Amino acid sequence: MLGWSRITLLLLTVAVTCTLAQQAPPWTENCRKSTYPPSGPTYRGPVPWYTINLDLPPYKRWHELMADKAPALRIIVNSLRDLVNAFVPSGKIMQIVDQKLPGLLGNFPGPFEEEMKGIAAVTGIPLGVIEWILGKKDAMWIGFITRSVLENSTSYEEAKNILTKTKILAPAYFILGGNKTGEGCVITRDRKQSLDVYELNPKQDRWYVVQTNYDRWKSPFFLDDRRTPAKMCLNQTTQENISFATIYDVLSTKPVLNKLTVFTTLMDVTKSQYETYLRDCPDPCIGW
Ligand SMILES: *[C@@H]1O[C@H](CO)[C@@H](O)[C@H](O)[C@H]1NC(C)=O
Ligand SMILES: *[C@@H]1O[C@H](CO)[C@@H](O)[C@H](O)[C@H]1NC(C)=O
Ligand SMILES: *[C@@H]1O[C@H](CO)[C@@H](O)[C@H](O)[C@H]1NC(C)=O
Ligand SMILES: *[C@@H]1O[C@H](CO)[C@@H](O)[C@H](O)[C@H]1NC(C)=O
Repeated sequence: MLGWSRITLLLLTVAVTCTLAQQAPPWTENCRKSTYPPSGPTYRGPVPWYTINLDLPPYKRWHELMADKAPALRIIVNSLRDLVNAFVPSGKIMQIVDQKLPGLLGNFPGPFEEEMKGIAAVTGIPLGVIEWILGKKDAMWIGFITRSVLENSTSYEEAKNILTKTKILAPAYFILGGNKTGEGCVITRDRKQSLDVYELNPKQDRWYVVQTNYDRWKSPFFLDDRRTPAKMCLNQTTQENISFATIYDVLSTKPVLNKLTVFTTLMDVTKSQYETYLRDCPDPCIGW
């Protein structure tokens, strides 16, 4: 029964959105120009910057960040506790998570066990709860594999190889860029293996790859096609002209930018530049 009400609800929402879309254009717009550096109503501000010093012992690395974030983290953990205890009022489940889980799961690999112990100490959140939130350990949590690659891989090929082959906890898209011509790909993963590696191919004039939240070989849901607009805007520029400014223009064009857009990040591996901006999509703007 529950399942059916969910599906009905979804269809209703879609029908209403169609009607609104006809009444309230534009949900889309021409490719934006000169939006960079960020300003105006689609820019909500900078993100805070923290330095995690990997030269510190693992136990201490997250202390400064976690001291700042502990209050917010405790609120999340407490609502999870309330949720679980609402289902199993005895409180037994959370007691097991708090006290028994760390032993049951065994150690996390590499520096992660010690780092999480440090986080537990600073936030006062039991280690078991932190491990429970991060997930089980027989496969790699996505955050662990990306962190390992960023910290220790010394070439594009090595990074690509690890991201393609390591078993992971949940399906994912890995978008990887190198610093040489042709080094760029999107890896579509399920838990066990890579389903597809889509690479730049300068010879075929494929100078960019675009990834939204759909597998490349499938069509996007018809009301959620951000792939075509993104490609259209990229097609209006050239490889020679690609820059933070032209990429930010593409990522500022509705519906590539939409109400679910939280932030935009620009990275340049050769120049070692990394910029993140919080975003807004004021009305009229599609909800996703
Ligand atoms: C990276 O390699 C170093 C040296 O082998 C190791 O101590 C460290 O745990 C590795 N980092 C990660 C995130 O696996
Ligand atoms: C690319 O990165 C490698 C490894 O850091 C470096 O040795 C090389 O000089 C870089 N090449 C370019 C073109 O920046
Ligand atoms: C963008 O250009 C490529 C290569 O010319 C072309 O195959 C593709 O259809 C174009 N896409 C859009 C959305 O304009
Ligand atoms: C690319 O940049 C050059 C120099 O800045 C400019 O003259 C040209 O119009 C640009 N081309 C496109 C397609 O944006």
